[in-house]
Amino acid sequence: MTVYLDNATTSWPKPLVVVEAMSKALNDFPGNAGRSAHSMSLHAARLLFETREYLAEMFHVPQSDNVIFTANATYAANFALYGMLKKGDHVITTSLEHNAVMRPLKDLESKRTIGLTVLPLSADKPLCLPLLKEAITPQTRMLCMTHGSNVNGTLLSLKEAGKLCHQNNILFFVDASQTAGIVPINMNDMHIDLMVFSGHKKMMGPSGIGVLCINGKHPLRPLIRGGTGSLSEHFAQPDFLPDALEAGTPNIPGIAGLYAAAKYIMQTGIKNIYAKTKQLADHLISQLQHMEELTIYEPLWAGSHLPIVAFNIKNMTCSYVAEQLDQNFGIMCRSGLHCAPQAHKALGSFPQGSVRCSPGMFNTFEDITYTINALKTIIHNENH
Ligand code: ALA
Repeated sequence: MTVYLDNATTSWPKPLVVVEAMSKALNDFPGNAGRSAHSMSLHAARLLFETREYLAEMFHVPQSDNVIFTANATYAANFALYGMLKKGDHVITTSLEHNAVMRPLKDLESKRTIGLTVLPLSADKPLCLPLLKEAITPQTRMLCMTHGSNVNGTLLSLKEAGKLCHQNNILFFVDASQTAGIVPINMNDMHIDLMVFSGHKKMMGPSGIGVLCINGKHPLRPLIRGGTGSLSEHFAQPDFLPDALEAGTPNIPGIAGLYAAAKYIMQTGIKNIYAKTKQLADHLISQLQHMEELTIYEPLWAGSHLPIVAFNIKNMTCSYVAEQLDQNFGIMCRSGLHCAPQAHKALGSFPQGSVRCSPGMFNTFEDITYTINALKTIIHNENH
């Protein structure tokens, strides 16, 4: 039996429509969008345009040119942070951030470009308005926060934070890598200025494609310069979107896959996907709670959370447990620090990390029961 419980790393299986769309892009219209003028190239350009339009509608981005395709969410976050922040800016972030955000911020801080406040979130100290307000200084230019923790699924409220940013004239940057596709996001209503996500996690598309959505009120400095197929007579990078931020040949098969995946999600219903995967995660947590050898790192505060379950088994390293699950039972999950060491500190699972099981759209209750029995067997075998 194969049970894939690593959807927070990358989702699997992909909906069939995603695979078909990518194969079609490679076979039927492998042209380079916005470069040549033949029909294959025009077909690719149309696909790009339609995907931007679709994603703009899905996430309420003011206009489709503000949907920028990147190689992954990390590139998108780097484009946003290095492209926006300048000397003297103060940034507020949280201890739940992934290294995709934390490393650029720490780099900018170490070069004395920005001042950085990391809010030390914990079960006793949830993200709340008083905590945020306290951290604001006259230099605060940006609040940079994840929408949902990749370590244990804790969700942060975008609505409240966005409103506070809006009232205080602070840019609001959101890392939606774990939530885009599973939790509704309205950039406009939530006052989000910059948002990044990957195509291959909850969006159910392929890897190699990430997205940066910007509200367009604050121009970003490009980090990469090169061909765009537009204004080729000038050495300067075009200053209009999306070309300003999309140098080089776009990933057409990846974008085709992402487009098909986004349509699949909207047809299935974001709320239905959330409800199904959360039920699976809740079932797993409820069963694990009966096993006294386990420490479960539950979401930091009550309420809704992502389908991510983090735990450790007494006297076993997380990598040993993950290896046993894989090699003896065909169960795939992730162990370690999940590129988010600060979040583990907040949970009390640093430096050892944790086992992380993240059910997805195509898992079943049978998969969860099988996993629980596998864990019981691993514990039993160790103790006898
Ligand atoms: N950020 C991904 C994870 O959490 C890779 O596993």
